[in-house]
Amino acid sequence: MGAGPAGLLLGQLLHKEGVDTLILERRSAQYVAGRVRAGVLEPGTVGVLERAGVAGRLRAEGLTHDGVEIGFRGRRHRIALKALTGKSVTVYGQTEVTRDLMEARAAAGAPSFYEVEDVQLHEITGARPRVTYRHAGSTHEVDCDFIAGCDGFHGVSRRSIPAAALSICERVYPFGWLGVLADVPPPWEELIYANSERGFALASLRSPTRVRCYLQCSLEDRVEQWSDGQFWDEFRLRMGEEIGARVQTAPSLEKSFAPLRSFVAEPLRYGRLFLAGDAAHIVPPTGAKGLNLAVSDVHYLYEALCGFYGEASERSLAEYSDRALRRIWRAERFSWWMTRQLHRFPGDEFDARLQQTELEYLFESQTAQANLAENYVGLPL
Ligand code: APR
Ligand code: PHB
Repeated sequence: MGAGPAGLLLGQLLHKEGVDTLILERRSAQYVAGRVRAGVLEPGTVGVLERAGVAGRLRAEGLTHDGVEIGFRGRRHRIALKALTGKSVTVYGQTEVTRDLMEARAAAGAPSFYEVEDVQLHEITGARPRVTYRHAGSTHEVDCDFIAGCDGFHGVSRRSIPAAALSICERVYPFGWLGVLADVPPPWEELIYANSERGFALASLRSPTRVRCYLQCSLEDRVEQWSDGQFWDEFRLRMGEEIGARVQTAPSLEKSFAPLRSFVAEPLRYGRLFLAGDAAHIVPPTGAKGLNLAVSDVHYLYEALCGFYGEASERSLAEYSDRALRRIWRAERFSWWMTRQLHRFPGDEFDARLQQTELEYLFESQTAQANLAENYVGLPL
């Protein structure tokens, strides 16, 4: 279920093992391919994409980053990812990952149906689950061994599990991110996560000629209220003088608002339905874990399914949820921690002083920097 990165990647990995898959997607292929999302890949993610045979363009065009910067009170501090962990991250947009996966699936001749409606899951707890859907005016039915619920936060899969069988943990943050994509060369070499008095801002990039920038803003803010000019003025102020003076601006190619949330539904299995990616969990984007976590779930689910087909045993399927959740909760912790330290929160002076203390400690302690770096480059799969 779903042709986001999770569904497409699982399909590709299974195709290579000779397991047949069918992908059902609610949106059009054009919409899926055009969505702008994050763009930082952990080395473990790159490894899984390699295994799926879709890392050619990523290897050629992805940018290797050996560090990230944290800004606070007008000063910037570098976290030396490579020196601290031996690992780097790769800047390569999720939009590009999706395109590579869609092309690989088309080349493999594996079936995907876009713009499907009224998707329903049946007999999930039996040995032969079924899915019904409407496509191009007619109703279809598929029976299958397993259903992989990769249909995102608003998908049908998680909602098909009885409420009593799921435990939900959630934290909603009192702000969102406004993001802009623009064709200008980035005047920063590495990503800058800035905690400024005016709120958080992130300077990211997609290529040597394209930037992706974000501002913390109020949940009441609407995209239309922010002209490009206002966005760049505020971005300059939050980035501080040195970067601010060097930022070139251009009309936005895309501008969107996203509220921040932490969410985990567990377990990830109900009968023959397995949840993976945003269908099961959401992290706030501070730390860039969303896509990487979807990929690690898929890696575990792929191994579980290979175990089932290879050894004719249910053991690996039974282990999937716990295995994936261990890593999910660690990424939830890290994303919550990054969000907590870098944004302006309503709260009292005690909260503000703790945040300041946490950041000052980070800038002075190699151990604290190693902790951030270890999580940023991604915990082992
Ligand atoms: N039937 C079929 N498809 C559906 C349905 C449905 N009822 N509901 C949703 N979908 C589709 C969505 O249109 C979307 O294309 O499922 C797909 C889910 O994709 P993503 O939301 O990208 O989720 P996932 O593949 O888990 O990728 C996680 O993407 O959302 C970002 O921040 C997230 O980076 C992370 C990554
Ligand atoms: C992005 O480039 O879109 C991006 C990068 C890092 C993040 C979030 C988003 O933490």
